[in-house]
Amino acid sequence: MKFEMKPLPYAKNALAPHLSEESFGFHYEKHHQAYLTNLEKLIGGTPEAEKSLEDIVKSSSGKVFNNAAQVWNHDFFWASMKPNGGGEPTGALADAIKRDFGSFADFKKQFSDAAVAQFGSGWAWLVKDGDALKIVTTSNADTPLAKGQKPLLTCDVWEHAYYIDYRNLRAKFVETFLNSLANWDFAASNFA
Ligand SMILES: [Fe+2]
Repeated sequence: MKFEMKPLPYAKNALAPHLSEESFGFHYEKHHQAYLTNLEKLIGGTPEAEKSLEDIVKSSSGKVFNNAAQVWNHDFFWASMKPNGGGEPTGALADAIKRDFGSFADFKKQFSDAAVAQFGSGWAWLVKDGDALKIVTTSNADTPLAKGQKPLLTCDVWEHAYYIDYRNLRAKFVETFLNSLANWDFAASNFA
C-alpha cells in the first residue's frame, strides 16, 4: 500500500453546514492521518507494506489491524457521504432494502437505532452478507471487511466524528447523515 492519504472525494467545506470544515480539519487531517502515520511506523519497509490496504486489514491483528482498519473505514466513510446526499436509493438496491427491511423508512429507523445504541466508539454499517442485506455495528476499529461481509455504506459513530458539530448529540448526527449526507450512488455501486 502507499502510505499516502487518499484525497477526500469533495472539498473540506462541501458538506457544511452538516459537517463543518473545522470538523474535517480534525477528523480527516488529524485523526485519519494519525492512523496512517501509525501504520507506516508499524509496517513501513516490511513485506506487509507491499500488500494492498484491504489485504492488510483482512490478514492482520492487534495494532496493525487497528490502524489499517481505521484507515480503510475512514476512506469508506468519506465515500459514504456527498454534498446534497440523503434521499433514497433507487433500482436493485432499493428493491433489496424493501425486501430485507420492509421499507426504506423501516431501514432508516433500524440503522439509526443501531448507530445510536452502539456503546462507545464504533461504526454502523449497511452490508451485504451472502445474498441478504443487514445492518451491523462494529466496535472501535472493527470492520465487516474482516468478517466476510461486503460493506455498502457506513456511518462513523466515534465521538470524534460528531463532537465538533453536534457535541454529545449522536442521534442528531445520525439523522443528518441519513437525511442529508448518505451517498446512495456509492452504496449502489458497492451492491452491484
Ligand atoms: Fe472517525
